[in-house]
Amino acid sequence: MSNFLAGKKGIIFGALDNQSIAWKVAERCVQEGAQIVLTNAPVAMRMGEINKLAEACNAPVFPADATSVEDLENLITKSMEHFGGKVDFVLHSIGMSVNVRKGKSYTDLNYEWMQKTFDVSAISFHKLMQSLWKLDAINDWGSIMALTYIAAQRVFPDYSEMAESKALLESFARSFGYHLGTAKRVRVNTISQSPTMTTAGKGIKGFQEFYDYADKMSPLGNAPAEDCANYCVAMFSDLTRYVTMQNLFHDGGFSTMGMNPALVEVKE
Ligand SMILES: NC(=O)c1ccc[n+]([C@@H]2O[C@H](COP(=O)([O-])OP(=O)(O)OC[C@H]3O[C@@H](n4cnc5c(N)ncnc54)[C@H](O)[C@@H]3O)[C@@H](O)[C@H]2O)c1
Repeated sequence: MSNFLAGKKGIIFGALDNQSIAWKVAERCVQEGAQIVLTNAPVAMRMGEINKLAEACNAPVFPADATSVEDLENLITKSMEHFGGKVDFVLHSIGMSVNVRKGKSYTDLNYEWMQKTFDVSAISFHKLMQSLWKLDAINDWGSIMALTYIAAQRVFPDYSEMAESKALLESFARSFGYHLGTAKRVRVNTISQSPTMTTAGKGIKGFQEFYDYADKMSPLGNAPAEDCANYCVAMFSDLTRYVTMQNLFHDGGFSTMGMNPALVEVKE
């Protein structure tokens, strides 16, 4: 390990179990010398898995529902008390669609559930950045990341309303990136990750087939969660200080492909 994050302090949202992308990011950040605080929704705490990660990372866990500004402010205040100062990096690794969970098709969506989906998956990112801003909680040259998916730009029918959630999330990264960059030299980016076998991923209909399709379409294959964690470390480190307001594809080349002969049956 190279100690890329030596002396840095960060808050990591969204580690549910050891398949979660945030779980791998937490482990890698600590390996690279960072101190971290872990957080997840109070309901996710009940599984108890996060405590194992907390122990391994020597990190406190402060529960917060990311849709509650009160919870977010409380989390940020407690984190600053714990660190004895401001934070250097934050990972938003949160996604959930109520309509997908309840099996509603895209042509028959429940709009109250859609509001909840947007709140959890996208507006929570704005709430998080606004809370960090108001509490002046992030150091100059800090780095804020959120995880997203290419369904924000292209159509993937079974991703349903999560496509619009991700479009909104990416837009918040750009818009708040302007304010945080100008006022505090803080960068804000999204990483657009390959399909990954996690609780959120497997909730999408036909995920295994889609995972295999993307794997074949991508010249390098699907990017594993561990490599996404490496990319996050790079983005939190001082080696990427002028990268901001970007949607960064971490997908083995998938986003640039038109067709791949590996997926086409050639008729003799
Ligand atoms: N798995 C994939 O294929 C894939 C691909 C691209 C992007 N992503 C994105 O990566 C991120 C992490 O997902 P994952 O695949 O690791 O799955 P995951 O299910 O392990 O993580 C999702 C997390 O969101 C948390 N969460 C849900 N509601 C919350 C709330 N109200 N407040 C706080 N936290 C809440 C869950 O508790 C969970 O920890 C998500 O943004 C997801 O959309 C996933």
